[in-house]
Amino acid sequence: QLHTHNMINLILFGKPGAGKGTQANFLKEKYDLVHISTGDVFRYNMKNDTELGKLAKSYIDKGDLVPDEVTINMLQAEVEKKPEAKGFIFDGFPRTTAQAEALDNFLASKDMGISATIALEADDEILIQRLLERGKVSGRADDQDEDKIRNRFDEYNQKTAPLIDFYKKQNKFHSVNGIGTIDEITVRLSNVIDEL
Ligand code: AP5
Repeated sequence: QLHTHNMINLILFGKPGAGKGTQANFLKEKYDLVHISTGDVFRYNMKNDTELGKLAKSYIDKGDLVPDEVTINMLQAEVEKKPEAKGFIFDGFPRTTAQAEALDNFLASKDMGISATIALEADDEILIQRLLERGKVSGRADDQDEDKIRNRFDEYNQKTAPLIDFYKKQNKFHSVNGIGTIDEITVRLSNVIDEL
């Protein structure tokens, strides 16, 4: 049985490199939430050379989004694995209107819903520097060159940015300054969460 009441279900939103994964790791401890990063699940599957990993790799290496149907099914399976969760942090999902609608319907079917979508804001040039820096050490194929990074920003601008209005219409959209120390940003996010 899911603990549907008093659940906190957050979407961490923002461009590539905004700090979603970094902040989710702190917030999951602080609020006792399950962190689901679709990018991490894809990378795990790529590393283990699963069918899903092989499919995803062809998109991710170029910096393109993976098709909605694949991503939605994967996300739902991740949520189903955690029936005891007190809440979730969705990191890197949803990224398209179709994904956002599917998430609302899926959560509603479980008597759950999104509490808030919180965006981390930073300028493109800062984000590109962060990702190029990470690409040097992580070996992430999509961080290796500026063209791939720019393509990820294009995907964001075309397909993901419309979700800002989607969540504004639901009165669930918040944004915080994503520039500063990691601690400072965790405090900004916590201030939003504590008001919910
Ligand atoms: P995903 O893994 O989600 O990548 P992304 O959105 O490009 O995000 P990143 O992981 O690069 O950035 P982040 O915001 O988490 O920042 P982080 O904390 O790591 O997705 C990868 C790919 O998978 C997509 O391109 C797509 O192909 C596919 N995919 C995933 N989800 C999908 C979906 N829903 N639909 C379709 N396809 C999907 O920080 C970045 C760097 O900055 C790190 O090096 C970090 O140390 C550093 N940093 C963090 N905070 C700070 C700070 N305050 N100051 C300085 N540096 C900082």
